[in-house]
Amino acid sequence: MDFNGLRQMDSEYIAGTYARFPVAIVDGKGAVCHGIGGEEYIDFTSGIGVNSLGFCDDDWVAAVSRQAGTICHMSNLYYTAPNVQLAKNLCERTGCKKVFFANSGAEANEGIIKAARKYSADKYGEGRNEIITLVNSFHGRTITTLAATGQEVFHKNFGPFTGGFVHALANDIGDLKAKVSDKTCGILIEMIQGEGGVIPLQKAFTHAVAALCAEHDILLMVDEVQTGMGRTGTLLACEQFGLKPDLVSLAKGLGGGLPIGAVLLYAKCEKTFGYGDHGTTFGGNPIVCAGANVVLDKLTDTLLADVQRKSKLIFDAVGKMPHVKSVSGLGLMIGVEFDTLAGRDVVNKCLDAGIIFLTAKTKLRMLPPLTITEEQIQKGLNVLSNILTNWED
Ligand SMILES: Cc1ncc(COP(=O)(O)O)c(C=O)c1O
Repeated sequence: MDFNGLRQMDSEYIAGTYARFPVAIVDGKGAVCHGIGGEEYIDFTSGIGVNSLGFCDDDWVAAVSRQAGTICHMSNLYYTAPNVQLAKNLCERTGCKKVFFANSGAEANEGIIKAARKYSADKYGEGRNEIITLVNSFHGRTITTLAATGQEVFHKNFGPFTGGFVHALANDIGDLKAKVSDKTCGILIEMIQGEGGVIPLQKAFTHAVAALCAEHDILLMVDEVQTGMGRTGTLLACEQFGLKPDLVSLAKGLGGGLPIGAVLLYAKCEKTFGYGDHGTTFGGNPIVCAGANVVLDKLTDTLLADVQRKSKLIFDAVGKMPHVKSVSGLGLMIGVEFDTLAGRDVVNKCLDAGIIFLTAKTKLRMLPPLTITEEQIQKGLNVLSNILTNWED
């Protein structure tokens, strides 16, 4: 089937929730992939921060294939080794005490929300169940995580929402303090608001949030769905801010291409979830966990240092390009703001020239595989620079 045939079938059978780019990808290796007509692309998106090791990393493919041919699934009522091994790896690498596996970022956030409420109910009784999140945040598309999401644009037509969420302004500790009450059990933040436009929180604000949490026994909850798993040059982004969270959600890059979410429970919440408190059929599936173990093993200090080096290369180069107003983000999570140009128009032109970028609001966004080579980065930057230099309206 050619591209037009596929597009026709898509419009006939797939719910029209995505504004897809006019490309169908059929195969890939590392940061390079091919379209249905044989065109070659360098991928600066890793499936929105998912393929941390790029397409089809040899060791990841071997582990996933081996596991698929051994035990593909068993219910969570039984033990499977890849699942337990992944939890051990995550505890050792992040300092959390316990892990609960889910299937997506939204589900991981549902998990940390449940954990925060349960912690508070256990200690203070019912009623202390409010969670403060930030304006312009994004936490997922379920009804509860939409309630947590501080962007009206996602709320239209889907109410009523789960109660118990209050939104405060990012980087405004006065506003946040004003929203804290004797009902507050958690404060949920993204270290960098990804979908909100790749906007990092100010370090001083995050420290003030942590101090507020410590003072009132409010749980510090960090959504690392997009920023986690080496994306910003450390395993978790909150490490770079010097934060010690009580609950962390992970997803996207953890699976390296298969769906997974994880709820990381730190010391305060170690015993919060007991028998029957939470569960899922697929969460922690052995195939997915086998792949995630490879991802985690490959996120060595050397790779994380590479991420930081490659990040600097991109920041330095893009900052000097014409039409660029600002470059934001950390590590390989980068947003580019233009003077008058719309990010999507630039992304479309780059796509025609063989480079795949994303958008975030009006910005161009880069989330390349952590393993992208400097040569591939250079090729992508050359294309972007040429397009911006020769831009004609
Ligand atoms: C910070 C953050 N949290 C949660 C989610 C939701 O993740 P998922 O789409 O896997 O449910 C996303 C997705 O973009 C995200 O960026």
